[in-house]
Amino acid sequence: MNQARVSGSTPAQQVPMQKTLFIKTYGCQMNVYDSARMADLMAPLGYVPAASADDADLVILNTCHIREKAAEKVFSELGAIRRLKRQRERQGGRMLVAVAGCVAQAEGEEIRRRAPFVDLVFGPQAYHRLPEMVARALDSAGDGVFDTSFPAKPKFNYLPESMAAPGVSAFLTVQEGCDKFCTFCVVPYTRGAEYSRPASDVIAEARRLVDAGAREITLLGQNVNAYHGAAPDGSTGGGEWGLGELIRALAGLPELGRIRYTTSHPRDVDDGLIAAHRDVSQLMPFLHLPVQSGSDRVLAAMNRRHTADEYKRIVERLRKARPDLALSSDFIIGYPGESDEDFRATLDLVSEIGFAQAFSFKYSPRPGTPAADADDQVPEPVKAERLAALQALLQQQQRAFNKNCVGRVLPVLFEKPGRHPGQLVGRSPYLQSVHADAAPGRIGEIVPVIIHAVEPNSLAGAIVVTDTKEGRAA
Ligand code: 5AD
Ligand code: SF4
Repeated sequence: MNQARVSGSTPAQQVPMQKTLFIKTYGCQMNVYDSARMADLMAPLGYVPAASADDADLVILNTCHIREKAAEKVFSELGAIRRLKRQRERQGGRMLVAVAGCVAQAEGEEIRRRAPFVDLVFGPQAYHRLPEMVARALDSAGDGVFDTSFPAKPKFNYLPESMAAPGVSAFLTVQEGCDKFCTFCVVPYTRGAEYSRPASDVIAEARRLVDAGAREITLLGQNVNAYHGAAPDGSTGGGEWGLGELIRALAGLPELGRIRYTTSHPRDVDDGLIAAHRDVSQLMPFLHLPVQSGSDRVLAAMNRRHTADEYKRIVERLRKARPDLALSSDFIIGYPGESDEDFRATLDLVSEIGFAQAFSFKYSPRPGTPAADADDQVPEPVKAERLAALQALLQQQQRAFNKNCVGRVLPVLFEKPGRHPGQLVGRSPYLQSVHADAAPGRIGEIVPVIIHAVEPNSLAGAIVVTDTKEGRAA
């Protein structure tokens, strides 16, 4: 256990003090990655993870601002945390409360106003300064520490190497920020301009993750296939690498069984990436490729920079490169001005493409984004009705996709024990959760599993014993 003297402790406290840290993460996988790095940053100061906020010395809410509901959840959680903080003070102790992430970036002032007891507010580009900010907050009488600036130098240059064991499946942020400015989206304002990490840094981090036991790495970025990182010194071609080249290099790590990436933009699916899907067996045949709408009129208004037909052509090329590719997507329903006809075009696109799974949301006006001010907002009941119709179609497709897996043998990467004794749970290439009877020692292995049944949230299967040439179900 990592114990060190905590900054701000008094001279009387000569023994290294252990403090506890609780991080609650909202939103996307980039926030999950960022939260892990915050824990890494605080570990040398003696902060160990707490099971809940109740008895933590430092509580961090790492927040998401993508839709209104996500932001409001933070304010309601802060109400509960305020009570915990007051209780601690009554007992003569101190709890620091921090709001990090995109709500902090976008609504720092609002947090100050609605929750003045919050000690630290900092955006996604500032968390590498967390130890220093915590020290300042501990030294202050509760005035609050605010940092929602975009640094001149990317935070990645200041982050320590990750220390916690990554688990079998790890995230690795390769790119951050976005220059696309879709008219509904807060990301370009909260995460800032697009930045790609140098390929050699990514490869070094991947190597460390694999050495620590990761068998699958998901490359993360708000716009991950816009990746254009500096190529490693001496690499052929020089200059910059795209995501396809990066994936090819990572596939050279011997113990890395699986590579994924998310989230991508249709406009940035280039020849190099399609070729990687064709050639790199470790690159999983499952792609999250948000389309948002099937109507060209709406896509143009959203500033998506592609038509429905262009999206279909891209999917066609990807499927030609990797015939077993399954797709996932994001949809926004009720974007300002969306007509019945526009919505039907979305249903048509879904029917034509066929998705293995998808996320769909009602349009939520985000302050400061162009679409929020449009005067042709779609009434709430219309949004609700359309969303229900879209989700019914998407669920039908997901059920069909899952059902189609029954009787097939899928390679499953086992990640952890299952709900029942003797079971392990893992993921199929298509990110489906799969459980099967298996010895705990098989965690971290990619094992052939024959799928027997579709359950509400997972697939049930049995390991295929390959003691004959044909293989048979255990
Ligand atoms: N309203 C509804 N959904 C949104 N998303 C992003 N911004 C909004 C918004 N203002 C959805 C998009 C994006 C996903 C991460 O969240 O579908 O792809
Ligand atoms: Fe937001 Fe993605 Fe559009 Fe960037 S590409 S503005 S992150 S929806």
